[in-house]
Amino acid sequence: MCGIVGYVGKRQALEIVVDALRRMEYRGYDSAGVAILDGNGGLVVEKKAGRLENLDKQIALVDPATLTGTTGMGHTRWATHGKPTDRNAHPHLSTDHKVAVVHNGIIENYASLRAELESVGVELHSETDTETAVHLVQHAYDAGATAGDFVASAYAVLRRLDGAFTLVFTHADHPDTIVAARRSTPLVVGVGDGEMFVGSDVTAFIEHTRDAVELGQDEVVVITADSYAITDFDGSPRTGKPFHIDWDLAAAEKGGYDYFMLKEIAEQPEALTNTLLGHLRDGRIVLDEQRISDDDLRDVTKVFVVACGTAYHAGLLSKYAIEHWTRLPVEVELASEFRYRDPVLDRSTLVVAISQSGETADTLEAVRHAKDQNARVLAICNTNGAQIPRESDAVLYTHAGPEIGVASTKCFLAQIVAAYLVGLALAQARGTKFTDEVTREFYEMEAAAAAVQDMLDSMEPVRELARHMADRDTVLFLGRHVGYPVALEGALKLKELAYIHAEGFAAGELKHGPIALIESGLPVFVVMPSPEGRAVLHSKMVSNIREIQARGAETIVIAETDDEAARAVADHFIPIPRISTLLQPLVSTIPLQVFAATVADERGYDVDKPRNLAKSVTVE
Ligand code: F6R
Repeated sequence: MCGIVGYVGKRQALEIVVDALRRMEYRGYDSAGVAILDGNGGLVVEKKAGRLENLDKQIALVDPATLTGTTGMGHTRWATHGKPTDRNAHPHLSTDHKVAVVHNGIIENYASLRAELESVGVELHSETDTETAVHLVQHAYDAGATAGDFVASAYAVLRRLDGAFTLVFTHADHPDTIVAARRSTPLVVGVGDGEMFVGSDVTAFIEHTRDAVELGQDEVVVITADSYAITDFDGSPRTGKPFHIDWDLAAAEKGGYDYFMLKEIAEQPEALTNTLLGHLRDGRIVLDEQRISDDDLRDVTKVFVVACGTAYHAGLLSKYAIEHWTRLPVEVELASEFRYRDPVLDRSTLVVAISQSGETADTLEAVRHAKDQNARVLAICNTNGAQIPRESDAVLYTHAGPEIGVASTKCFLAQIVAAYLVGLALAQARGTKFTDEVTREFYEMEAAAAAVQDMLDSMEPVRELARHMADRDTVLFLGRHVGYPVALEGALKLKELAYIHAEGFAAGELKHGPIALIESGLPVFVVMPSPEGRAVLHSKMVSNIREIQARGAETIVIAETDDEAARAVADHFIPIPRISTLLQPLVSTIPLQVFAATVADERGYDVDKPRNLAKSVTVE
């Protein structure tokens, strides 16, 4: 998730573009860059790794006379392909320095496009997927059917790209025009008076205009100072969705939500889709920086998953999938425990370290502890180039975009599918799953994004329940099988956001102690397994609910829509769509996140910054 802005108008573009980047820094802050067209065939690109202030310093060194153009674009990056370096920062330039591009998303077929460009002698200067697009536009412009036609060249290239992308192209010889397109990532047009904008979201131009048009899937917009024209990738006209922005700036940054965390909860379908994107090629699972070969994966005899907090809960879930798919033993351990133990590891042990930030001190030390004992380490991380992936043998990035709310939400879901991808890669390498089975599992994960969206769209009753329960002192969470880590995650969210005493238990453990806590009126969330997929567990859970109800608990049951047995024992029923067992956590977690956030808000707490907590815990 990067931030993009483009401007064509009568005012100097630089200040408008840099201000927009400042407002969009929450979308990514690995690097930033601008491209300014001088109107006479010149194009200046300045870009710098790190926060925007680094770019500001660099721009201050440039002759201001070269930066007076009235067309420009900018980018603030959250790295996906390629490390966060100056070279990988956007905009990227064509070899003739005429075409510039900024990009949000992933061009899935970039490897073959890169090979094609290299085979005709193009030298690429970055490790990004993005750069391929800009060279292709130059080639299309230089010769062939679209020669000399910038807009047609951009369309021709867009039709060749697979993946998810928002792309914005400029051409130095066509300074009055910007071409922008979107597939699966956002793009909005800002309609001004004698000036037009494109942006990843309305924060890119909210200071200048409140009239906007949202582009649909697979649409292209060509803007000039006085016009915008929307089409599909083949050039057939489309209308877009005009709207008026009535949010203030702070609300706009949060996509109209009161807190970043609520926005991040809403972004979960996109986080899932982006994390999976590009990982199935020709029926095979591919990891990102594959420094662990298929042969190495075949030699693995044991898997350890190490992580903290929410990432640990994603790890717990991965055990169910990896053991099921690979028949390898999987141990999941809190990094803070693992690092001080003497775990049995050797070269055939694969240690999977899960961390959103990639900086968590305990997880980093666990990685080092594993490496000291010669184990192979694979990191699952949301932050490109962070310390944990740097010290690991391989890395699989979750492409959830920056997570600003301290409590992890969208990264949890992304971590689950990323860890499942590791399980599928292992299964494939070891031959415990055939290609068609792996492909099916992969497509099921992809399809889960729509189920998550349905879930998000039906959360009003949960918010109502949360408002009604906001004054409770204790809430318990029960689950079995994959519902157990979900129960732990639900309890963690409520503790950290709403400062309510909350505990998650494996429902089978009730009789071994926790049932003593049940008293009249105590709210207990129960995450039900599917009555079809897990019939035995399901009937045991129904009995568990009856046991706690008999002792006065107020039951809030999360179960499949048509699970009548669960509905019958629920004081409050939260329906979830039917989905395969291993994927159920992707939907059953949503109401628990929404419940915790709503209770916290109702109590007047800062949902994004819970007390005593930090986003990355770089000390023990
Ligand atoms: C909970 C939460 C924390 C983190 C934990 C690990 O909502 O955010 O429990 O999951 O501190 O952080 P990372 O994933 O950055 O290693």
